[in-house]
Amino acid sequence: MTIRLLSPIMVNRIAAGEVIERPASVIKELVENSIDAGATKIDVVIEQGGRNYISVTDNGSGMSKDDLPLCILRHATSKLPDDDLFNIKNFGFRGEAIPSIASISKMTITSRKQGEQNSWQIKIDGGEVLGVQPASINSGTKIEVRDIFYATPARLKFLKSERTERDNIQKTLANLAMSKPEIAFSLVSDGKKILDLQIERGDEFEARLSRLKNIIGKDFSENSVAINAVRETAQITGFISIPTYNKGNSLEQYLFVNNRPVRDRLILGAIRGAYADFLARDRFPILAIFINTPPEEVDVNVHPTKAEVRFREAERIRGLIVGAIKSALHEAGHRASNTIAETAISYLNKSMQNNSGGGNYSQNYQGNYQPNRPSQVAFNETFRTYQPATNFSPNQNFDANNFITPSVKYEAVEDEFSHDFPLGSARAQLHKTYIIAQKSDAIIIVDQHAAHERLVYEKMKKQVAENGIATQKLLIPEVIKLPQMDVENLAERKEDFKKFGLNIDKLSDDAVAVYEIPALLCKESISKLIYDIIDDIKEFGEEFAIKDRFEHILETFACHGSVRAGRELNAHEMNALLREMEATPHSGQCNHGRPTYVELKLKDIEKLFGRS
Ligand SMILES: Nc1ncnc2c1ncn2[C@@H]1O[C@H](COP(=O)(O)OP(=O)(O)OP(=O)(O)O)[C@@H](O)[C@H]1O
Ligand SMILES: [Mg+2]
Repeated sequence: MTIRLLSPIMVNRIAAGEVIERPASVIKELVENSIDAGATKIDVVIEQGGRNYISVTDNGSGMSKDDLPLCILRHATSKLPDDDLFNIKNFGFRGEAIPSIASISKMTITSRKQGEQNSWQIKIDGGEVLGVQPASINSGTKIEVRDIFYATPARLKFLKSERTERDNIQKTLANLAMSKPEIAFSLVSDGKKILDLQIERGDEFEARLSRLKNIIGKDFSENSVAINAVRETAQITGFISIPTYNKGNSLEQYLFVNNRPVRDRLILGAIRGAYADFLARDRFPILAIFINTPPEEVDVNVHPTKAEVRFREAERIRGLIVGAIKSALHEAGHRASNTIAETAISYLNKSMQNNSGGGNYSQNYQGNYQPNRPSQVAFNETFRTYQPATNFSPNQNFDANNFITPSVKYEAVEDEFSHDFPLGSARAQLHKTYIIAQKSDAIIIVDQHAAHERLVYEKMKKQVAENGIATQKLLIPEVIKLPQMDVENLAERKEDFKKFGLNIDKLSDDAVAVYEIPALLCKESISKLIYDIIDDIKEFGEEFAIKDRFEHILETFACHGSVRAGRELNAHEMNALLREMEATPHSGQCNHGRPTYVELKLKDIEKLFGRS
């Protein structure tokens, strides 16, 4: 076969194969163009999940009559004025998106350049220009895309259901909108408005939090803390969830570099490292992080859809992320997620409704019993063991003794009540596991094991920070058999491990030996630790950081050293634990991101009993 040059249309279709994977990719490219054009209002309309019709309308700078035939040419861009690929300030820089989309669909661009009298329209069909003609549009640009992939039918077959494509479009638009609270966005799908974001006012943090609240939800805004840190020329801002507010996957981790949404391994790894201390490996925080660096310090030209970036000084950026997250979480102190109490209350509510036939307890209840109030008829199992404090007695005839089970241990210390502590005053220990504390407007339930585990862990960390790591030599080195690649990976990093008290070396092609371990580490967990380290190296490669993993070593220890559930505590011990929790950062969650306490507000409990 002879070699020949491909036609421009074919070249564009090949490029489209990389850049335009699905309708959501069209939205991404067009909306990015609108943002680049300085728009403050961007409206998107789709039909049938974008398969039939997509339009993006903006009030940006617009294009002139001469611009229109140019913008659909490959490698025609207004965004690289000095040909410097390392000084990219816009979303676009390649001049590739519009010709790619135009080559696989039927496209109409209508635009009016700012300051000009007339507006113009160009139509393109599968890459063929049909002509430029006068049009009428007040300002900005409207780009319409019909029958996407009609010119490359094979691609059509890869599309998912209309709903999935629509959801993808919504996510893409919402993601872009997060970084631009100063722009209004809307999305209409098959005639229905499914996203409507107004321009957010206020300072940078207020506007951003408000936008995030409108997209991610109220729970996120209420259970997150702001981060804000600078390291030399790089800055990080954003909002991150407190550890007890977490998810089973990382889909709600929104990352932005110079406002560009990215999925970046370095950043994901740093986040995981920063939270390693507070979350189990299979739980993920929810967050939106914005990293800003001078454009020359980051390469955005490494991925066809620009979803990945490379930092010139990756280590510095990593340190910035980890440092910012940790210090924000530190400031959050003992806060635990308020959704936990909400979940508890709604769970109790539900179980009360389900139980509405069980009248057993009501026979003991001699107060204002009203049979048509399900919440009283079905007094819940969970609360049956709770003896209300004297100043919280529902009424005079209430015979509390009928409700006390033998597992209730009740001790009140008068002077503890003179003060309204954040975690209240301990009133009882139930099932040798839960401390019940009272404060003026709430009941607090503390999981004593989880709380104590956390306190021990924080203490250990402090000791290590102050006195360094004590190590323990193993009498008989621990030999761990591994695939050769893993042996090499570990051996390469042995000097790093040594700094953290782990003396490990290659024994043969398929085994390593561990000679010395941090004294805090339980010997039984060495092999598990090594496997975890290997997993992390595989996942994060160069970006893997032993420091983050080391904090798990302490965690493992803390797990073994703390008070188990099932130990009786006296009132003084309980109150001491509560006061220590208040004084200890991160004590709102155990080492796996589960809460150490739940605060049930009296006003919610009152609702439960139909009292308000
Ligand atoms: N909504 C718009 N408003 C004003 N000008 C636009 C708009 N959309 C596109 N343009 C112009 O058309 C040009 C080509 O757009 P296109 O998206 O193909 O390339 P780009 O944005 O420069 O780079 P990239 O391919 O990386 O997105 C842009 O450089 C810009 O000048
Ligand atoms: Mg573009």
